[in-house]
Amino acid sequence: MVGQNGPAMADPLTTVTQALLPVLERLAGAPTDPVVRPSDHADMQVNAALPLAKALGRPPREVAAELLEAASDALAGIVATTEIAGPGFINLTLDSEFLAATVSSIATDGDLGVARVSASDIATVIVDYSAPNVAKEMHVGHLRSTVIGDCLVRVFEAVGHRVIRENHIGDWGTPFGMLIEHLTDLGEDAAARELGVGDLDGFYKAARRKFDEDPTFADRARHRVVMLQGGDDETLRLWRRLVAESATYFDAVYRRLGVRLAPEDIVGESAYNALLPEVVERLEAAGLLVESEGAEVVFPPGFTNRDGDPLPLIIRKGDGGYNYASTDLACVIDRVERLGGHRLVYVVGAPQAQHLQMVFAVAAQAGWLPESVRAEHVAFGNVLGSDRKMLKSRSGDAVKLSALLDEAVERASVAVAQKNPDLDADAQAAVARSVGIGAIKYADLSNDRVKDYVFDWDRMLAFDGNTAPYLQYAHARINSIFRRAGIERSSVRGRRPDLGTAAERALALTLGGFDTAVHDTAARATPHRLCGYLYDLASAFTTFYEQCPVLRAETDSRRDDRLALCDVTASVLERGLGLLGIDAPEQM
Ligand code: ARG
Repeated sequence: MVGQNGPAMADPLTTVTQALLPVLERLAGAPTDPVVRPSDHADMQVNAALPLAKALGRPPREVAAELLEAASDALAGIVATTEIAGPGFINLTLDSEFLAATVSSIATDGDLGVARVSASDIATVIVDYSAPNVAKEMHVGHLRSTVIGDCLVRVFEAVGHRVIRENHIGDWGTPFGMLIEHLTDLGEDAAARELGVGDLDGFYKAARRKFDEDPTFADRARHRVVMLQGGDDETLRLWRRLVAESATYFDAVYRRLGVRLAPEDIVGESAYNALLPEVVERLEAAGLLVESEGAEVVFPPGFTNRDGDPLPLIIRKGDGGYNYASTDLACVIDRVERLGGHRLVYVVGAPQAQHLQMVFAVAAQAGWLPESVRAEHVAFGNVLGSDRKMLKSRSGDAVKLSALLDEAVERASVAVAQKNPDLDADAQAAVARSVGIGAIKYADLSNDRVKDYVFDWDRMLAFDGNTAPYLQYAHARINSIFRRAGIERSSVRGRRPDLGTAAERALALTLGGFDTAVHDTAARATPHRLCGYLYDLASAFTTFYEQCPVLRAETDSRRDDRLALCDVTASVLERGLGLLGIDAPEQM
């Protein structure tokens, strides 16, 4: 079906894999996955005959020949020539028409070849991300959660899922006693000003100091907590003010970052208060709640401490207070039963792995997480300084997020001014914002999220290597080719290019991989997979551009072929960067 007549859109690697699957299954007598990958020797190389030969106890080259023979119908119209290489690898050269049709259908498809999941596979995905704490500075951990979560939201939507964003801010708990008392001491408006400019740490620290040093203040704070939990009107009003001022500050950071979190997405810890008694009742009814050292706890199977003793998830402390874990259990109930979530994604730092695993285990025991729902900790590592220790500011405090963004844009302006001194001041400032913020986000997203990474200004802002500026520059450069020639990109869009050189074929093949890259990223919640793909694409473009004259091609027709490749490359780069939450300026 693919090939001459049908629309060729899927990733060519996938198309070949799909074509080989039934053939292999017949020969092997069992489902076997062929490994198909791009190759330097041909368009792609298949490693299927070697494992099969091993299983059958026959010479691999002979098995390869047999496989090719059996697959010849399935590969017709897709593959032009085949060759058995080395010990039994199969090199394939794709049919040029097929490859050209792939490029042209991606170019004209609104989704650039990214398929939507079928109707029965559409899931409601709830993404818990960012989640800073009220009246506390957002630290780089929150930056990671924000940036990774925002990318995943975009990717899940791109493949067709229904996505609900939830910003589970820390807006409840005992510290609010001292925070409210400090607010009243300062006067509400003065306090609001301090929080509004983002001096959250100063505010928190001052409250903490008074709490530690002044016993009367500490008493007031403790009394305030009781009032807050008791629902006292005036206390609630002050608490709301505190939350609102912080939320305004968070929102300013989100806007600067260009993430899609809005105030409506805030569903803080306090939102689950009303559900907490029900959590206890339901755990009790299920016979899971036990008393341990004066607290009410659940022991989920399989969790033990260093001494091998069972580890409790504390539901209610001795003083009757609920905690972070009980809130997260209520949250599971809410996400599954009220919101109908099928996939619950928690973009939270790796240190909270045990907490979340225990919450998921207890929720499963209680029957709140049926088989059909997948709860998933999308964990991430730390951001390290050049000393390979946790990133700290010069004063030794946690780095203030807004200061980090200021510095990124400042450094980017220098780089942009060097790169393109002819841009006018406004354009330069806009490009510097896109490059600076993009560089920070990309540095975060392009590293395997579970690992720590070293925060390095020079590296992330470099115009070559696996960086945002490199990808943005490739995109801008393509637009400038069209600008220089005075040709509209749309005028060559959809053209089936003649792919005469190896560099053109390699670029076309890489373009075909966008769909797989986006789906892999969605399936495994791994933004670095998409980054790696875009870097490969920009690299394939760079090679193509070095080797194939575009505006000075041999003929007008070859020029248009190459312009068509340029156009679709720019579209995929722009869309891919968009999925990462990064701008793609038209010039830089
Ligand atoms: N506020 C928490 C923190 O700063 C993160 C909350 C993550 N989400 C959750 N459902 N527990 O560490």
